[in-house]
Amino acid sequence: MIADVIVDLQYGDCGKGKVAHTLCSKNNYTHVIRYNGGCNAGHTIYHEGKKFITHHIPCGVFWGIPSIIGPGCVIHPETFFKEIEELEAEGIPAGDLVFVSKNAHIITDFHRLEDKKDSEIGTTRRGNGPAYRDKYARKGVRAGEDGRFENYLIDLYEEIYENEDFEGLQILFEGAQGFGLDVDWGDYPYVTSSHCTVGSAILNGVPPKYIRDTWGVAKVYETYVGAKEFEGNDKIFDEIRELGGEYGSTTGRPRQINWLDYDLLKKASRINGINNLVVNKFDILEELDVWCLYSGLNLYEFKNKEDFKLWISSKLNCEVDEEMEIYFSGNKEFI
Ligand code: IMP
Ligand code: MG
Repeated sequence: MIADVIVDLQYGDCGKGKVAHTLCSKNNYTHVIRYNGGCNAGHTIYHEGKKFITHHIPCGVFWGIPSIIGPGCVIHPETFFKEIEELEAEGIPAGDLVFVSKNAHIITDFHRLEDKKDSEIGTTRRGNGPAYRDKYARKGVRAGEDGRFENYLIDLYEEIYENEDFEGLQILFEGAQGFGLDVDWGDYPYVTSSHCTVGSAILNGVPPKYIRDTWGVAKVYETYVGAKEFEGNDKIFDEIRELGGEYGSTTGRPRQINWLDYDLLKKASRINGINNLVVNKFDILEELDVWCLYSGLNLYEFKNKEDFKLWISSKLNCEVDEEMEIYFSGNKEFI
């Protein structure tokens, strides 16, 4: 068995969906497993030229790969079934390919109602926080106890360790949210309620010795959605928001924008052991031809894209991992 892991190194919305979709097209994965979060996530995927937004369902379904909602996830049944219907209506056989771990936790309508009252964190109001709270308080309900999931349930231990072709298993772990929203490493309390690091994939049942590649995903600038003040004080961020379509794919909220924080990127790369990094939305800054980033207390401005790329790559290769492969990507559909 081998496993690759995808983690977002900023505040979500960096293009994990695209990276997962590209990796599925290039590797012979036997399973794709979502390892954290719930329908607070919104992954934008272009498949055969068509745009899809998924919340619960891992992107293996676009490639005929069995796709599992892992034990680290929370799941809202109505949203899940609606998503399957919508994908099937577009010709994606999600109903035959998607499975739910019996130990994943349910987001109830009660959790949603409670989350709708949030005014401090700026949550997606999808019931995530209350569902995880009840899980850890040992008051939660698990998918295995909910009859609606009868035809979808899977025991991930049996699926992996009692698999006749254990040696041939190739798993892609698809994460949700990002390092800056991680409940331990993010800017608490402006965080989500799950773990968004490589450690979270391991919690889903595949130990470190099987991990091959850890793919980090970032953007050339940063975005954040939520209650804290984040946006930089410059009109250019309005332009980036429009050009980059920086509006939440789950809630439609405008994302706050700022320049890339190199120190966060370095920290997230170290803590996740990133050996492949994709820095997305390169085309947006190319269009504006403005190249800035923060490091320490300084704002650096570069003359051109080559200088910007070289600065980031050489620092990461020197400070994190000299063998890290870094891809600057300006395409919506593939890396
Ligand atoms: P919650 O996960 O809905 O509780 O929201 C907590 C924080 O995480 C809020 O700032 C949300 O906007 C943010 N958040 C949650 N999921 C996502 C996501 O998939 N992308 C970006 N931000 C997210
Ligand atoms: Mg998103």
